Amino acid sequence: MKIQKLTLAMTVLFMASLSFVSCTKEGPAGIPGKNGEDGVNGQDGTAGCITCHDNSQALFAKTIQWEASTHATGGNYARNTGDCATCHTSQGFLGFHDGSYDPSAPGAAISNPNPPNCYTCHNVHETYTEADWALTITGTVAMFNTTQTPDFGKGSQCASCHQGREVKPFPVEGGADYTITSAYWGVHHGPQANVVKGTGLFEPGTGYANGTHSNMTNTCVTCHMAEAYGTEAGGHTMYLGYSNHGSDVLNTAGCVSCHNDNSALLVMTTALQTEVAAMLAELKEKLDAMGAMNAGSDAPIAGTYAPEVAGAVLNYKAISEDRSLGVHNPTYVKRLLQNTIEALP
Ligand code: HEC
Ligand code: HEC
Ligand code: HEC
Ligand code: HEC
Ligand code: HEC
Ligand code: HEC
Repeated sequence: MKIQKLTLAMTVLFMASLSFVSCTKEGPAGIPGKNGEDGVNGQDGTAGCITCHDNSQALFAKTIQWEASTHATGGNYARNTGDCATCHTSQGFLGFHDGSYDPSAPGAAISNPNPPNCYTCHNVHETYTEADWALTITGTVAMFNTTQTPDFGKGSQCASCHQGREVKPFPVEGGADYTITSAYWGVHHGPQANVVKGTGLFEPGTGYANGTHSNMTNTCVTCHMAEAYGTEAGGHTMYLGYSNHGSDVLNTAGCVSCHNDNSALLVMTTALQTEVAAMLAELKEKLDAMGAMNAGSDAPIAGTYAPEVAGAVLNYKAISEDRSLGVHNPTYVKRLLQNTIEALP
């Protein structure tokens, strides 16, 4: 666009100088001018645009997938103040990571908040080349509640938001009694990154080990952004499960490169999820009986408890909010729940 305007302006100037020359009477010859340097030819103003805005329908496909995702439909981007805005709004996320939004400043808020969208994850319209598809966040992720800084590959972007919020102080096994201050206490609704990497949770006892799912190069992206099934799963919908005629279907497009027998995979996944759901139910029953949580609700009851009880509440909420029922890190999650139950007084 700029280049086109420049060309137009130069043409006008050129024409003006021509008419100037032809309309005036010839005077004495002036001092010879300095030779001008040859300019570099300008690029066609739209050449860069059509690498993406072409008729391949690729951009449209990603757009309708995103429109069906919870990122677009969840509606919680009204949470635009303080640290909430760093995960719930696009501008708060980018501003927090480039240092221009300080979530702890008094009255910090994002006006006209947008949900996570193309601009959150890609450098849209910065260079106007293919390079703009690069992700805005890559490399290691500084996480709350742990000193580890894991690398999730292309999933580092996801992990920056899908991780537990800070719990301060953090309960310590065998340490002082712990006061749970409110019904909202815990690691919040999206602690998936902690579960995938087995870090930042309350770990009583020993025997913890991560499995292959934790060490995949692109973690979240490999499983959640595999080949799309319409706008129901995969691709930019980021869903793994969808409903077909009332029954739940798992999109295994991202699993089959490792698990080549699809029906065996589904049996194994159901078995794992059933086992983890049963362990969660057992833990919840114990916490309800101790008066640390309310039966029929996932809200803890404020009060002072042994650290193993507070830690168990934290783990119960983290593993249930994770919602993969063990798939994110099978061996770790089973060990965590077993040790958590055994550590209860
Ligand atoms: C690297 C890919 C890429 C290139 C190159 C690119 N665009 Fe875009 N463009 C996008 C994406 C992604 C969006 C956002 C799509 C959406 O909002 O659904 C977009 C949106 C737009 C829009 C809609 C309005 C807006 O800002 O959301 C216009 C107009 C546009 N681009 C024009 C251009 C022009 C003109 C050029 C070249 C000078 C260009 N684009 C180059 C990817 C690209
Ligand atoms: C800017 C922060 C942010 C980033 C980056 C992000 N997410 Fe999300 N994600 C959210 C929020 C917030 C929600 C819930 C939206 C709402 O409720 O409004 C969500 C929802 C989801 C859901 C749907 C959960 C449900 O309950 O339906 C999935 C799946 C998901 N994200 C996966 C991913 C993956 C995979 C990535 C990386 C490719 C990613 N997210 C990157 C913030 C983010
Ligand atoms: C570290 C990132 C992060 C921060 C900070 C954060 N959230 Fe969230 N929140 C998420 C993610 C990710 C989800 C979606 C989880 C999912 O669907 O698996 C979510 C989900 C939610 C939900 C939807 C819960 C549901 O069950 O549908 C609400 C409401 C919410 N957050 C409110 C808040 C508020 C209020 C704050 C600030 C006090 C806040 N969040 C701070 C990441 C964050
Ligand atoms: C939550 C983060 C997130 C959001 C939001 C998002 N993308 Fe992406 N996008 C990704 C990731 C991660 C990849 C890489 C996927 C892979 O390699 O399998 C990707 C890949 C792409 C690609 C392929 C790029 C290439 O190198 O060929 C296109 C095109 C694309 N996205 C377009 C869009 C558009 C258009 C939107 C908005 C409608 C959008 N994305 C929103 C994370 C996101
Ligand atoms: C990078 C390869 C890889 C991918 C991709 C992968 N898995 Fe796995 N998965 C493994 C390996 C290897 C094991 C064996 C245990 C281990 O090494 O952690 C495993 C174990 C499992 C288990 C058994 C856990 C148990 O102990 O009962 C389930 C269930 C599972 N995977 C489901 C899935 C699903 C569902 C997907 C896709 C959404 C998937 N996996 C994607 C490599 C992978
Ligand atoms: C080994 C494959 C695999 C990896 C890696 C993985 N997920 Fe998942 N994820 C799953 C499966 C399977 C489920 C459960 C889907 C179901 O049962 O419907 C799930 C559930 C979820 C959910 C709950 C909402 C939903 O769609 O059911 C969110 C949010 C989520 N994952 C985010 C992430 C994030 C963020 C990462 C990276 C930090 C990640 N996942 C890594 C396989 C994976």
